[in-house]
Amino acid sequence: MDKIKELHQAALTGFERAYAPYSNFYVGAAILSTDGNIYTGCNVENVSYPCGSCAEQNAIGAMITGGGKKIKAILILAEGKDLIKPCGACLQRIQEFSDENTTIFLADKSGIKQTLSLAELLPHGFAEKDLKHD
Ligand code: THU
Repeated sequence: MDKIKELHQAALTGFERAYAPYSNFYVGAAILSTDGNIYTGCNVENVSYPCGSCAEQNAIGAMITGGGKKIKAILILAEGKDLIKPCGACLQRIQEFSDENTTIFLADKSGIKQTLSLAELLPHGFAEKDLKHD
């Protein structure tokens, strides 16, 4: 199976395992790290709503825990009325482990529907250089 198909399959597994009894909005995410491994995440909600976490966040956690360092591509999958886009907080989280070559695939169950760069989705994100001061 080619890597992109594998990435979609991994995100689909995440989608199917998502725990979202409050929003009923199920999200799967899968990361292809620069060393060629795939890490999966899903959204995990909580009765105390702010305690819930996003699929991308959990996929990043899996990547770091698994020894991955950088995101080559991330695929986010949901079945909303419109195509899913990562939330603002997750764009910031993705940026932390990305560079200008990082690809974001937006997908539904049937396949990838849109391919974007992180710069297109987050053109002015807060970055390490912004921490510098005199
Ligand atoms: N959600 C994600 O998992 N990723 C996103 O980028 C957008 C939103 C989840 C959070 C919550 O469990 C549900 O979708 C509805 O907001």
